[in-house]
Formats: sequence, structure tokens, C-alpha cells
Amino acid sequence: MSFPKKFLWGGAVAANQCEGAYLTDGKGLSVPDMLIGGSLNTPRTFLPQIDTTAFYPSHQAVDFYHHYKEDIALFAEMGFKCFRTSINWGRIFPNGDDERPNEAGLQFYDALFDECKKYNIEPLVTLCHYEIPWHIVTEYHGFYNRKTIDLYLKYVKTCFQRYKDKVKYWIPFNEINMAMMNAGMGDLYCLGLLEDEDIRSKERIPVTKLKHDPQKCFTALHNEFVASALAVKAGHEINPDFKFGTMIAHGTMYPLTPDPKDMLFYQKKEHQKYDFCGDVQVRGKYPCWAKSMFADYGVQADFIDDLDDKRILKEGVVDFYSFSYYSSSCITTNPNVEKTHGNMSFRAKNPYLKASEWGWQIDPDGLYYTLMRLTDRYPETPLMIVENGLGAMDQLTADGKVHDKYRIAYLKPHIEAMKRAVEDGVPLMGYTSWGPIDLVSAGTGEFRKRYGYIYVNRDDDGRGDFSRIKKDSFFWYKKCIESNGEDL
Ligand code: BG6
Repeated sequence: MSFPKKFLWGGAVAANQCEGAYLTDGKGLSVPDMLIGGSLNTPRTFLPQIDTTAFYPSHQAVDFYHHYKEDIALFAEMGFKCFRTSINWGRIFPNGDDERPNEAGLQFYDALFDECKKYNIEPLVTLCHYEIPWHIVTEYHGFYNRKTIDLYLKYVKTCFQRYKDKVKYWIPFNEINMAMMNAGMGDLYCLGLLEDEDIRSKERIPVTKLKHDPQKCFTALHNEFVASALAVKAGHEINPDFKFGTMIAHGTMYPLTPDPKDMLFYQKKEHQKYDFCGDVQVRGKYPCWAKSMFADYGVQADFIDDLDDKRILKEGVVDFYSFSYYSSSCITTNPNVEKTHGNMSFRAKNPYLKASEWGWQIDPDGLYYTLMRLTDRYPETPLMIVENGLGAMDQLTADGKVHDKYRIAYLKPHIEAMKRAVEDGVPLMGYTSWGPIDLVSAGTGEFRKRYGYIYVNRDDDGRGDFSRIKKDSFFWYKKCIESNGEDL
């Protein structure tokens, strides 16, 4: 057995990381517009107001807003069946609480989805990829405020009505579990939650220094679960063919040693970091161990017993489970071990694995393990990998090309791992690798951390004419899709 005939091969981006045009056609500011670039060892910083002297990578990003026709044509040339992107909330409701949507923003996504349709590319749309309007952050404290649920619902219902004949697959929130993974930074990116003193700050704040209050974080996350469930329900009412997916950031973990304490610690963390959000969105209820988990975090979780919310969560379960997977790491109760980076946080380094230039450990077997584990946990639910890839520093050579054999060397065994899982019965519906075209890194704000099959002439000093160049991996991925994953 191999990949299903209608397997959704493609690529994934987020509006804020590629579109640019951050104030064009009436768009309002959203969280990423406020973030100044950093690097592996220097965190991103922000000020509550735009600093006119600073360079903001997402303000122009790779100018997808003006290049989307050219870019979709390149995706079509690779044979994409699916393109995952997000709608930037601030294009539709510039402040988040506006009375009426911004028609110019709606028209942009109309045109984008029409362009996909022209090539039979199925859009998969994330409704909130760290893109909460800034006004909702400063005036409402993001999802900590229940009122934000209504603002979000108004936004998503506007999208469902408008695009009901153009989009079938939706993701209510990107990497919803990131809220609790990246203390402080997760609160801002995922929940739009900032303390008053940070909202008033006159100094640039490194995102790693943001305060993290578990009580507020889990209250806001609960509100996001409710918002997600209400969105799923409303979407199914508007178009019963809509399919909704959860989106969980998966960084597979292994216990570092056979010490039973490490094994139990691993089990607990796997529950907390991944299964917690997955269970709520897929099963429509908090897992049985949620109360002891809240006690661990010192959180008073009365919201978990609210009968109305319980009903809402039950009525709004997702149709498929989608997730991102880049790397794995180890976990141990011993604090004195070597650590490694990842999109989750610092964890113990696995001595058996190599890592990317950003320290993310490369582990295709971890993808197989994750697929099998998820199918064991949610046997009735189709899976989809909606992010995977290698962030690397590409060199444009004298022949005007990018010979990125290291990217192919990363992707090939990951696709082979998917194939093994499919052969073993995993209901995998698709694969959209991250950043098919170079874009701004969410974690560091860099351009030089490139994921694309398509190189974009743009650098971290804001230089470059945005021209596009096909890398060697472009032709490799084309071949992969053409052969439905057989010719790697
Ligand atoms: C995921 C996010 O966590 O990882 C993306 O959904 C992000 O937005 C991707 O870009 C890769 O992370 P980074 O930090 O290399 O951009």
C-alpha cells in the first residue's frame, strides 16, 4: 500500500510570514507586525507602538501580497494539490472589534482562493496563525477576556459566509498548544495576552522576558477552546461539507534514560504538552488527568466544570487532527544535562541525532512514532501533517542557483517515514511542508532561516528585490508529488 490517490501534497505558510503589505488596503496591526527580528541567540523584541527607526521583518515579508499569482503558479508547477495559508484577521477586521469587515481585505482572499482554484489547488485555511489584532491585545487582553470569543466568532463567521464555496478545510487556531509551551511568548503569540505594564512599556521587551501567569494562560486557553468549538459548530451549520482540524505543535519526546522517573516524567509531559489540547478538540472534553495537571501548575480551574462550556466543547469537535513536526528531543528529571533548541523550548539533547544549524534535532523516525501514537490515541480521526521542513542558510551560487541537497536529505526520510506509517494503516490525508517559498521565521524573525523550494531575494537588512528562484529541492518535490511519493 502507498499514499492514497487523493493525498493532499502541498505546502504551508502563514499570512504574516509571507504577505507583507502590513497596512495595505485597510489592514490593521496584528501581533507579528509588532515584532522586531532576532536570531538564534538573540530573542525577538517589541514595543507596544511601532518604532519607526526599527526594521520589522513581517512588514514587507516576501511580498506575497503582490506576488501571489506568480507564487501560486510556481506551486502549481510543483504539482501542489493543497496550499495551507492563513487569513490575517487584521485584514478582515483591522481592529478586531470593528462593526463591519474590511471589503478590500475580503477581496484579497477571494482573489487568492480563486487563483488556487484555477490550478485545482485545495486551500487549507488557518483562521488564526498568531495573528490576533493588536487592538485586541491592548484593549481586551486577548483571549483572557471572554469578549474576544465573540470578536473571533464574528470574524470567522464572516470568513465562512464569504468563502463557503471556495474553502473546505479550516484550522481554527495554529499550534494551539504553543500557548503553554513557550512561557510568555506563547501567551502573546497564541492568546494575545500581555500584562498591563508590558502594554505600557516605553522600552523594547524581549519576548523571552514576558511574564507568564499559568492561571491567566489556562483561562485564556480555555476561552480559545470554546472559541474553536463554537467556530466548528458555526462552520458546519454554514456548510456541512466543511472539515475542521486541530493544529498541534508536535516535538516528539523520548525519556533520556531508562530511569523509571524519566519514563513517568516523559509520560506526564507528553500528556500535558500534546494530549491536553488534542483531547479537548478531538474528544470534546478535558482528559481525566486535567485536574491534577492544573493542580501541578497551581491553577484554579473552575471553568472546567462549567456546564455550558462542557456542552459547547462536545458540540464542536474537529474532523481531523493536523499537526506540525520538525524535530524531537529528550526529557529527564535531571536538570544538569546538555540542552538543545526546538520550536517548543530547550530540552535535553539526544546523543543519537544530528541537528539543523538552529539546533533542531533531525528525527524522521520520530515522525513515524508520532503518527502511530496519534492513531492509537484517536483511532477514528484522519491525520494530516501541516508543517515539516528544514530551516537552513542557503547560498545563491555563481550559476544563480541554490543547490540545497541538505533540504532534500531532510525531507526524503520524513516522507519515507510517512509512507511506512501509511503502510501500517495510519489514515494520513495529506502533507504540507512548511514554507514552500522562503519566508520570515516566526521564532527568530530571520529571513536567512529558509525553508523554501523557492528562494526569495530578500535579506535580514531589508535588501533584495523579492525575485524568486527555483532551488534544486523544487524539482525534487515536483518529482515526489508526480510519483505520489514513490520517486524520492
Ligand atoms: C511553527 C509555526 O511552529 O514553526 C510557524 O507554526 C513557524 O509559524 C514554524 O514558522 C517554523 O519555526 P521558525 O521559528 O523556524 O519559523
